[in-house]
Amino acid sequence: NSNFLNINDLSLNQLQLLLDLAREFRKGKQIQLKRPVFSANLFFENSTRTHSSFQMAEKKLGINLIDINPTTSSVQKGETLSDTVKTLQAIGVDLMVIRHHETGWYHSLNNDKKITASLINGGDGSGQHPSQSLLDLLTIYDEFNGFANLTIGIVGDLAHSRVARSNAEILHRLGVRVLFGGPQKWYPKEFDAYGEFMAVDDLIKEVDVLMLLRVQLERLTHEAVDSFTAQNYHTEFGLTLQRYHTMKKRAIIMHPAPVNRDVEIASELVEVPQARIFKQMENGVYARMAIITSILDAKGLIKELPVYANT
Ligand code: CP
Repeated sequence: NSNFLNINDLSLNQLQLLLDLAREFRKGKQIQLKRPVFSANLFFENSTRTHSSFQMAEKKLGINLIDINPTTSSVQKGETLSDTVKTLQAIGVDLMVIRHHETGWYHSLNNDKKITASLINGGDGSGQHPSQSLLDLLTIYDEFNGFANLTIGIVGDLAHSRVARSNAEILHRLGVRVLFGGPQKWYPKEFDAYGEFMAVDDLIKEVDVLMLLRVQLERLTHEAVDSFTAQNYHTEFGLTLQRYHTMKKRAIIMHPAPVNRDVEIASELVEVPQARIFKQMENGVYARMAIITSILDAKGLIKELPVYANT
């Protein structure tokens, strides 16, 4: 398949190959394209990391970027996402990275035989965030050289988090013991399939990886926003200094960012030695280079097949 829409569409073998390829890119691997390749990044929702990181990955791979800004495009005149994608395909775009507020925006496009350009999901509503998931897995893999016997806690706004939805399932498939924490009212029952809900104070003492999630005020109802206070959330569910001191010595702290400082995590803990938040961003470029390369390889656009394609 030459789309990358949901991390859980991958077999564990395919996932391992992507992780290995990302590590090769970090060591300086380069690829040669058979012909000029064109990409467009369509971000209908705000982004700093995913957008700039895909741009960086594309530039490092020698891909030509078509500059398109949804807020000044004909989407504002009512053009559908499908017609926008087909328009860009018609002018010669090979690859599109799309972030969209609609959960599952990609299902109908994935089934549309007329769309031959490759689609990468840069985050769909509260659905999936597969490139974030890959960079998170790379960060964990680097740290522990695998996933066996790990306990990973995902804490925060689970209901609205596409990062949690992507990671909970793939971590469970990798054999990780997954724990969930945060406000009970934000715990989706469907997560029972992947792990166990636990009080934050208990969870923090058990985990090898503490994966914090941003509180997404933009996805809450007005009533929920009105009753939310940063101070109360931080005290009840956040990584306070006090909770930090109860973590295992070798445990690491992750957060997809942007971080609400002093809400999910005390501001002074964002850059402590155990924090991998900026390392995650660095890994994001290599993870995205691997994703794009696997797609271009499937489309026959790479001169020499990377080693991973033959295994
Ligand atoms: N982690 C993440 O997706 O960040 P952005 O929203 O800035 O892309």
